[in-house]
Amino acid sequence: MSDTIFRKDGTAQGVAKQRLIESLAKPDKRVIFDPLAKNFVLGSAIMKLMGHKLNVWLSKKLAPGFHEHLIARTRFIDDFIEQSSDEGIEQYVILGAGYDLRGHRLKLSPKLKIFEVDQVEVQDRKRSKLPMNSPNSENITYVSVDFNQQSLSEQLLKAGFDKNKTTVFTLEGVTQYISKEAVISTLGELSTLTQNANITLYLSYVDVLFNENPTACFGAGYLNTEKIANRIKNMSAKVGEPWISFYSAQEVSNMLVNCGFSITTNKTLEDLNQLYFSPVGRALAEEHIFNLEHSVIAKKVVI
Ligand SMILES: C[S@@+](CC[C@H](N)C(=O)[O-])C[C@H]1O[C@@H](n2cnc3c(N)ncnc32)[C@H](O)[C@@H]1O
Repeated sequence: MSDTIFRKDGTAQGVAKQRLIESLAKPDKRVIFDPLAKNFVLGSAIMKLMGHKLNVWLSKKLAPGFHEHLIARTRFIDDFIEQSSDEGIEQYVILGAGYDLRGHRLKLSPKLKIFEVDQVEVQDRKRSKLPMNSPNSENITYVSVDFNQQSLSEQLLKAGFDKNKTTVFTLEGVTQYISKEAVISTLGELSTLTQNANITLYLSYVDVLFNENPTACFGAGYLNTEKIANRIKNMSAKVGEPWISFYSAQEVSNMLVNCGFSITTNKTLEDLNQLYFSPVGRALAEEHIFNLEHSVIAKKVVI
């Protein structure tokens, strides 16, 4: 991630692009809505002209299930954050926030303090493209951190984070880009920092099988699994953000347990397909399911 010839926001844009595509669907057909995503995607005007169906069709040519996988992940976290806000959490820290606009687009308690953490270059670009007076801006604080090089706790505390308050952390679509050592030390830091508070953590990780035996990460009957797996990895590498870390469920569980967390949920697109796409008549067939990434929720409760 330190390659200076790249803008560092290639993958953040890639995710925002899928959220823009989804937001182009009719209200009764879409799974998430991100009206500001267009500000962060190159070529958004053309994509708007093309409309939802054509964009989804093109994404299916690239990799069936790719668009739905990212949208299911987004919706899963949206629901989790809205529910946590309703339950009265006091702080929300978005780690590797990129062009995530949850702080602006979800219905959250006005008392919820939000911290967005990412590399300074990505945050500068985000701020320059965010419309003035975007909803809830007053509750959002930007905290610049390079996970590979800087201490997260130090930067969070400097930015006004209260280590005694109930907090939700999310790490969406990030663990594949940073070293395992950086993930372990970041989780360890969070755990030490918040030892007197109840903490809930969301993290996504790419299954180690995606590297070792790609077919195992796709639904039965999915075609050209190895080719598609390589295509996905190449797309990230081409924008200077290669996937470098892959995990087994046991490894993630050990990592979290060592930091005092216990896992309450572990879902893939297989689970979320029926939940989110069936109700809008867009359920994916088994042969288009793409289970490369897991969505995990873990809790650390102070007794
Ligand atoms: C695929 S994007 C995901 C962005 C956002 N979570 C989302 O889902 O829209 C990965 C994000 O991780 C951030 N990131 C990658 N390596 C990082 C590092 N070493 N320190 C801080 N942020 C990093 C990138 O800048 C980028 O915003």
